[in-house]
Amino acid sequence: MAARMTAKIVTPTPDVLARAADVLRTGGLVAMPTETVYGLACDAANPEAVAGLYEAKGRPHFNPLIAHVASQAMAEREAVFTPLARKAAEAFWPGPLTMVLAVAATGQTCDLARSGLDTIALRRPAHPVAQALLDAFGGPLVAPSANRSGHVSPTTPEHVRSDLADKVAYILDGGPCARGIESTIVAFTGETPMLLRAGALETAEIEAVLGLTLARPGGGSGITAPGQLKSHYAPRATLRLDAATPMSGEGYLGFGDHCPLEGNLSPSGNLAEAAANLFAMLRAFDLRYERIAVAPIPRTGLGEAINDRLARAAHRD
Ligand code: TXA
Ligand code: MG
Repeated sequence: MAARMTAKIVTPTPDVLARAADVLRTGGLVAMPTETVYGLACDAANPEAVAGLYEAKGRPHFNPLIAHVASQAMAEREAVFTPLARKAAEAFWPGPLTMVLAVAATGQTCDLARSGLDTIALRRPAHPVAQALLDAFGGPLVAPSANRSGHVSPTTPEHVRSDLADKVAYILDGGPCARGIESTIVAFTGETPMLLRAGALETAEIEAVLGLTLARPGGGSGITAPGQLKSHYAPRATLRLDAATPMSGEGYLGFGDHCPLEGNLSPSGNLAEAAANLFAMLRAFDLRYERIAVAPIPRTGLGEAINDRLARAAHRD
């Protein structure tokens, strides 16, 4: 693979997908749209490719990756499904749920991608372009969000290009991501399934299907998701949250009736719309302001994940 490339944003025709799959087979990187955020994909079974992916992102090696699969059959080769995990897969896959499960003996995902853990994070994405790439490649693809480590996750192909232009062969154009916020991560490795990351699938929906209350990290167990760094989503600007009104000099990111002139995550107060707009608006405001105030967002439903990402974006060490 060439050491330096200039990534093109390309329409994913069958021909382009076949060439992108060839790039993946030779250890290269391809940016693909998913319904949550854009992912930076490589062959999950190839440790050299995974090392190159970590390097491109500037990501610490201890942070394990999500393996994306094309089908339930591919998922079952990678991980051991408990009855509850299978129930969740039937209800929510393909979709924005990542499940942490015990690694199967037949698994192809390399140790480096899992940071040497005996568990694996799996997701079957719903986006047709991600599915088409997985089908063309024929095996699991690990894909973290396609941003430089520490930056806000990309929800458009242009975001990917501005972060990783010379690192990827192709940026497959799937338009803006419908969900706009990363997948919900649930671990099925303990007695009770545990919510490791609030995300695009509402916690209450999972609890309704499983008929139980998810355990939470810190609930006495001391377990947390590796790589859930507090400052993971930091923009350059400082953030002030739950701001009813802006102070002078601040950019103001509104929500519902808290209505500024420049930008509102959702004028109608719709949390799904706010999630879809969150990262793009944070990026745009970050270019224009040193300080950003954000209107209060309800903590119910998708507001849980939105407030989680905002708290991380606001955190300074
Ligand atoms: O929506 C998404 O999940 C996007 C799209 C591209 O699929 N991907 C994404 O990946 O957000 P990333 O790498 O930014 O976040 C993966 C998270 C990290 O917090 C990591 O620590 C956690 O998954 N993770 C991966 N393997 C794990 C494991 N075995 N146990 C616990 N957490 C794990
Ligand atoms: Mg990320």
